[in-house]
Amino acid sequence: MLAEKHQTCSKNLLMNQQDVNSVIDLFDCNKSNLIQILHQLQNVYGFLPMEILMQVSKRMNIPISEITGVVSFYSFFSTEPQGRHTIRVCLGTACYVRGGKKVIEKIKELLQVELGGTTEDQRFTFEIARCIGACGLAPAVMIDNEVYRQVNSNKLKSILAKYE
Ligand code: FES
Repeated sequence: MLAEKHQTCSKNLLMNQQDVNSVIDLFDCNKSNLIQILHQLQNVYGFLPMEILMQVSKRMNIPISEITGVVSFYSFFSTEPQGRHTIRVCLGTACYVRGGKKVIEKIKELLQVELGGTTEDQRFTFEIARCIGACGLAPAVMIDNEVYRQVNSNKLKSILAKYE
């Protein structure tokens, strides 16, 4: 039941206290498992909205400030809906010098999304990376775990078209 929700939750988030409780119970409602609990809830809902964090706070009797502190400390937690794919454009020195900024501008134009944002159809979240180990064939772009080298504006359309 929880897995099904992951697919539909982005827009119609179902914040069911019972579901949150069942995740918490999987980890014995133990404060030392807070990170695992948040991780699991993020898997279920796709991100961690404040409503969910409040429910965790109430059920586990942990101050909300403590929970939001944990969420903001770890970069793998997100309080905003994330795209199905993450594009990371490298802006390390080699990529910057060889046209990384142009790639960024083209992605903004093609996907109508700002850096740090997610496309309206939630297909992509758009981020910057610092050197992804492909300096020799810069500029490089990483989508999920796939690295694309020598990316230019012309190549971008066909690269992005691979992702639904
Ligand atoms: S600087 Fe971009 S891959 Fe190294």
